[in-house]
Amino acid sequence: MCGIIGYVGGRNARDIVLEGLKLLEYRGYDSAGIALVEDSLAVYKTAGRVRELNMLPKSDAHTAIGHTRWATHGRPTAANAHPHLSFDGKIAVVHNGVIENFAVLREELAAKGITLLSDTDSEVIAHMLALENCDMTEAVRRVGERLKGAATFLAVKEGEDKIYIRRFGASMAVSVGEGEGFCASDVLALSPHSDRAIVLGDGEYGVLSASGLDLFKDGRRIKKQPILIRCSPPKDCACHMSAELEELPEALQRTYDSFKNFHIPSELAGAKRILLVGCGTAYHACLYGKLVLERETGARCEAVVASEFEPDANEGDLAIFVTQSGETADTLSALHSCKRQGIPTLAITNVAGSSAALEADSSFLLEAGAEIAVAATKSYCCQLLALYLLAKKRAGHAVEQSEISEVKRAAREALDAVAYEERLMNSKLFFIGKGQDYITAREGALKLREITYRQADAYPAGELKHGTIALMDEGAAAIVVATEERAKCRLVATVEELRARGAYTLAVSCVGEIGADKHILLPRMREEALAPIISVLPLQYLALTASLTLGLDPDKPRNLAKSVTVI
Ligand code: AGP
Repeated sequence: MCGIIGYVGGRNARDIVLEGLKLLEYRGYDSAGIALVEDSLAVYKTAGRVRELNMLPKSDAHTAIGHTRWATHGRPTAANAHPHLSFDGKIAVVHNGVIENFAVLREELAAKGITLLSDTDSEVIAHMLALENCDMTEAVRRVGERLKGAATFLAVKEGEDKIYIRRFGASMAVSVGEGEGFCASDVLALSPHSDRAIVLGDGEYGVLSASGLDLFKDGRRIKKQPILIRCSPPKDCACHMSAELEELPEALQRTYDSFKNFHIPSELAGAKRILLVGCGTAYHACLYGKLVLERETGARCEAVVASEFEPDANEGDLAIFVTQSGETADTLSALHSCKRQGIPTLAITNVAGSSAALEADSSFLLEAGAEIAVAATKSYCCQLLALYLLAKKRAGHAVEQSEISEVKRAAREALDAVAYEERLMNSKLFFIGKGQDYITAREGALKLREITYRQADAYPAGELKHGTIALMDEGAAAIVVATEERAKCRLVATVEELRARGAYTLAVSCVGEIGADKHILLPRMREEALAPIISVLPLQYLALTASLTLGLDPDKPRNLAKSVTVI
């Protein structure tokens, strides 16, 4: 959940690392810091955002490492911010992950008279490296072996223009250029400098200098081929979430084009049971995937929240992992347990070179473009499209460009629909739907909670009368999603029941009016199964507008990070 980055080479390391940290900030933004290899090590840390580091003095250092944090151990203070210095001040470390045995390691250090200056688990790494009486690369191996849990880190040493790197349990990529080298938690931060990156695997470690990367595993030198970085840095903009929503029509086209070149794994055709696994918004895409795969192919499907996943492998199983970042720890952990049990795996992800893309037996790349805002928007819609295309393909039906063009046109219209109303935000808010629209309702409620910090829940229309309708009165408001003709009667009845109890109702509908106080009418889709790509848009915009109206930062909501790399 943190972002780490390093640069070594002929250019100004301070400036390059600060720029890189801005690109990584979506991974965590409660504190930040940088270490520069000058005559001695210079470390600057802040309890604020990366921009606070712009204040630090100019430097002509050629080597630097930086960190942007999402706190796990210790509050977001300057003392707990990374980099952490070793007791002798000669080694600085930035870390991404959670060291599970840090309490034991801390005691061991205390017994040696070393007092930790922070509450973090990460600080132990710097001291442990300094205690190893050997070459730094070997020290990185030895210390790495003693750390339990996720421990990807970078280290610099006084007097050396080198960055020591170790990956375990959290991603790390390296780009090597002419007389310089870059390393970072994700390829997006490398993309301004190179179109290629070496993605490190767990247990790999090495040293990066101006003359290249020396990589090792288990004490042996290894060589790895770089992969193509298929992303470009996002343009500077005031609000990424808004820009990402606006980009949806082009993103959908890229997903469709990407699918044309995708070879469906043979296991999908014969799968007796399809497991769909993801977290948060990606889990909602899994719920849609289950629905559309079952409807189109008759295959038995199960959608599971990754953190609750406990596979019982059966002959003919296939597991699909839906993850925008490809780095979500819960999702990766579920993927690993499937691999251990021999279940074939397919990843649907937006990030080339991500752990999910590399570790699954096959992977489909959404090509939605970089998504920086913490709230997933365009990636969700592209995930829905990918799952629809997969279901159609397995059912033996081709999806024509004309269908995609229709979705793009409808998306454009839906993006212009205004769902925001002050009274919605001043009411107890409920999102209601049936079938595929209940999934959209859940996603709408999650988006609102995530970026406005307001309570909002989603319910299946028919379920209200079993308890929740007791909450309906003049102080309640319900957003009712309606995209399926066959569910229309049920939703008309629900709206009537809600209004009869004084609740205000707003319908987001592709099937005409359903008797609500207000309607946002969206185009009727030829293929109703594609409507959730459209009907979610006013809900995403509602959350965005509410967040901005409340004076919040929708791109960086409190307590969250784009990629949740801890379990
Ligand atoms: C979405 O708005 C959330 N930020 C969150 O639920 C997210 O979808 C979830 O953490 C999964 O992320 P992933 O798709 O990168 O695996």
